[in-house]
Amino acid sequence: MLVILKPDDEEISLQAAQLIASAVRKKPPLVLGLATGSTMVGVYKHLVALHQQGSLDFSRVITFNLDEYLGLPAAHPRSFHHFMRENLFAHVNVAPGNIHIPDGTIRDDYDRYCASYEEAIREAGGIDLQLLGIGRNGHVGFNEPTSSLASRTRLKVLSGETLDDNAKFFAPGEDSPRCAITMGIGTILEARKILLLAAGQSKSSAVAKSIEGPITSAVSASALQLHADVTFLIDDAAASQLTQRDYYRRVLEMTALLTPDRLS
Ligand code: GLP
Repeated sequence: MLVILKPDDEEISLQAAQLIASAVRKKPPLVLGLATGSTMVGVYKHLVALHQQGSLDFSRVITFNLDEYLGLPAAHPRSFHHFMRENLFAHVNVAPGNIHIPDGTIRDDYDRYCASYEEAIREAGGIDLQLLGIGRNGHVGFNEPTSSLASRTRLKVLSGETLDDNAKFFAPGEDSPRCAITMGIGTILEARKILLLAAGQSKSSAVAKSIEGPITSAVSASALQLHADVTFLIDDAAASQLTQRDYYRRVLEMTALLTPDRLS
């Protein structure tokens, strides 16, 4: 596990975009797992800028998004389809046929649909690099507390904390979604490399529990401790409850010196 501490959100976004760009340049048909949320906006902005400068080609990249709200069609302004189109896909050259986002409009046979999403990931060769944010309650994707650490893509009921966090994005009186389709923790752990981003004080407890706490289904992101190639990119506010910050800084210095490939 590599923990990279940065002063702020902007530095995190820039470094994440550089790591993603470098992965795409090393392997043009990269299978890239994508996430939504405010933490990702800056990352996608930098990726769009690199593409528009002509230094990043997405033409062979295959993408799989983590999750989508159940009941929201792709055109809904709060859907993750819409978020991805606005922030990334409308501005770069990912082939439309290479974009995969769970369908929020399915109405029955959820298990069959979710199994087909997993099958599509397998057919693409598995996810090379999975980008993750983290919820205040430690969720990744929409794997709410008590999600099985072996879970696969499935229908998930959203927690009260997540519903509260989401309410502000929906108009007063508008029903916000109660469920989502999300990749499972088991699905996420199969990615070859994982990059988790967290910014802001509100994430500090979830970040500390995920990195330094016990592995527990009560904090889904703690399952990442089981993965051999995870990088956490954390800003100072989100890192404020970590107890081993000096150690992480020394590890990073030595990594840059001894195995710089790990950082590019
Ligand atoms: C949603 C998404 C998560 C994301 C989280 C954090 O819950 N399902 O994938 O990590 O939001 O969002 P933000 O970056 O806006 O704090």
